[in-house]
This record gives sequence, C-alpha cells and structure tokens, in this order.
Amino acid sequence: MALSAQEKKQQAAAAALTELREGMVLGVGTGSTVNALIDRLGPWRHRLRGAVSSSEASSAKLRALGIPVLDLNEVPDLALYIDGADEANPRRELIKGGGAALTREKIVAAAARRFVCIVDDTKLVDTLGRFPLPLEVIPMARELVARALAALGGRAVWRERIITDNGNQILDVHGLHISEPRALERELNQLAGVVTVGLFAARPADLLIVGCDDGIRTI
Ligand code: 5RP
Repeated sequence: MALSAQEKKQQAAAAALTELREGMVLGVGTGSTVNALIDRLGPWRHRLRGAVSSSEASSAKLRALGIPVLDLNEVPDLALYIDGADEANPRRELIKGGGAALTREKIVAAAARRFVCIVDDTKLVDTLGRFPLPLEVIPMARELVARALAALGGRAVWRERIITDNGNQILDVHGLHISEPRALERELNQLAGVVTVGLFAARPADLLIVGCDDGIRTI
C-alpha cells in the first residue's frame, strides 16, 4: 500500500516510542516528524523527568503537554535524542537544518549518548547533497561565506526572512555532491562566520528509523 510521506513520518515517530525509558530526560528535535512524536508523548508526561529541546517551536509544544523543558546545562547525562533529518545515507550521516534549528540540534546530538533519527523513506539517499545543505552564519559574514562556498563548487542561497533562534541567518548550499561528509563538515566548520554546518557526519545517528510503504525499516 502506498503511504504518503506524512503517514510514513507518523509510523517512524510511533516506532521511536519504544526507545523511551521511565524517568529519563529526552532530547527532542524539530520538524514535522518530531511533531508527530511530541503528539504521542501525552502518556509519557509524568514518566519523563523532562526534555531538552532543540528549538523554541518544540519547547512550546512540549510545555503545552506539561512536559518540563530543561536547560541542557542542568542535564549532565542525556541518554537519548530523537530528531528528524532532511537526508540520510546508509552510514546514518545526515543533512539537517531544513527547519533552521541545526545549531541547537547539533548541540543536543553531541550531548546525547544515543541519537535516534526518524525519517520517511523519501529522505534516504546513497550520497548526501540532493537536499541543499543548510549553514547557519553570523549575519555580517553571509556574503563572505557564500563566496567561499562558490569556490568549493556550491551555490549558496540566502534563506531570506528567516532568523534562527540564535539570531543568525541561513544559507542553503546547492550543487554539492557530498562524497566525504566528515571531511566537508570539518572544512566548512573552519570558515570564519559559520556557526553550524548542517552535516551530521562527525556525530551521525546511532539508529535510523525509516517509515516505508510496507512498515518500519531500521538502519
Ligand atoms: C530542522 C531539521 C528537521 O529535522 C528536518 O528539516 C526534517 O524535518 P521534517 O521532519 O519536517 O521533514 O533538521 O532543522
């Protein structure tokens, strides 16, 4: 049976509930797939110690459910982070940042012992780069960074009117064929003015839960 992308996201979100444990602090990502997860957290309201959130949008949804949103600085050990992605390869390396929350997402992913990524199967690729790579940049460095990306063969498009939760801007980089995600992540991290690169390769997901037409696949 052919399912819509949204139905597959719902499936992946539902499957991720098996990762939750009594009394844990849960790292929560951002986006429509994660919203499908948050919508299922009602019964966990009193069973989680709280959540660390990667965006103001997710924090608002969590608070509306009555789940305490904790400051990461007060959480020395974060057992689990669940988030979506814009693209994933078979090595569980990701492109993230379609929702402009990449910086806090990368921080929470780095803090978490286990990172579970929930996607629908349209997000799976052999080689990352079909989805334009988001970069969060300091506003005054936007054009400087865009020129450096052009020299690397990418075409950076400013996501106008979007200001991140951290007060910065987003460039979406088109035309990159990312055969070495870790190396590119390292290289782009070095550019002056880049806050965060939307490549999650140095810290990939530990588990991908993929919603497909015929059910759930895990990688
Ligand atoms: C937000 C993200 C999201 O995880 C990514 O954009 C996927 O979103 P969705 O679940 O809506 O498809 O990285 O910055």
